[in-house]
Amino acid sequence: MTETLKVAMPKGRIYKQASELFRRAGVPIPQDVDDTRKLVIPLPELGMEFIMAKPVDVPTYVEYGAADIGIVGKDVLLEENKDVYELLDLGIARCRMSVIALPDWQPGIRQRVATKYPNVASQYFREQGQQVEVIKLNGSIELAPLIGLADRIVDMVETGQTLRENGLVEQISILDITSRLIANRVSYRMKNGSIQALCDRLHQVIPTAVTNELVE
Ligand code: PRP
Repeated sequence: MTETLKVAMPKGRIYKQASELFRRAGVPIPQDVDDTRKLVIPLPELGMEFIMAKPVDVPTYVEYGAADIGIVGKDVLLEENKDVYELLDLGIARCRMSVIALPDWQPGIRQRVATKYPNVASQYFREQGQQVEVIKLNGSIELAPLIGLADRIVDMVETGQTLRENGLVEQISILDITSRLIANRVSYRMKNGSIQALCDRLHQVIPTAVTNELVE
């Protein structure tokens, strides 16, 4: 009996790049999967089942073994800090995490920073020796400095369009971000053959592939 790999796929902007990468790697995901609203998609001909998850939840599904493997941005991986193996840098969804402010920003006594990534942001400012209050938001982070909720934000920059259109400036880029292939610790042992075979296929089509050390 062939085993089925349960794959947590991130819904939204990473999905398209991830499914294209799979296709380039010789895993022919049917085109209609890209447009479906179904959340669990059996792909028996590929020996897989896709679980369409909110990106921030992918590490949770993988940590608990509800999915064997998953695709997730390094930003989410760092923020969520789940007990999973990081197998492969897929080199897709490339962007950066930056500190962003209004152009006339001045350091004040009590600084507030809004972000979707409170753990990563807090650690960064701690390392910089800067005392800031971190405020967690869930989206449209650029709004915060525009309406006085925070002095600065820590957020993702891809094309820079959101910053430009809202008159904000990037002060410093703190992390380069790409999507990663992660695995459940038990699945990695129990389904090692099929996980390794997928890794090998993906590795061949990633231009600047970096096989990372497993995350402990
Ligand atoms: C992300 C990010 C920025 C924007 C950056 O938001 O938080 O707002 O994309 O992309 P750009 O540099 O190409 O403009 P997303 O669209 O994922 O939605 P969100 O605001 O709800 O987080």
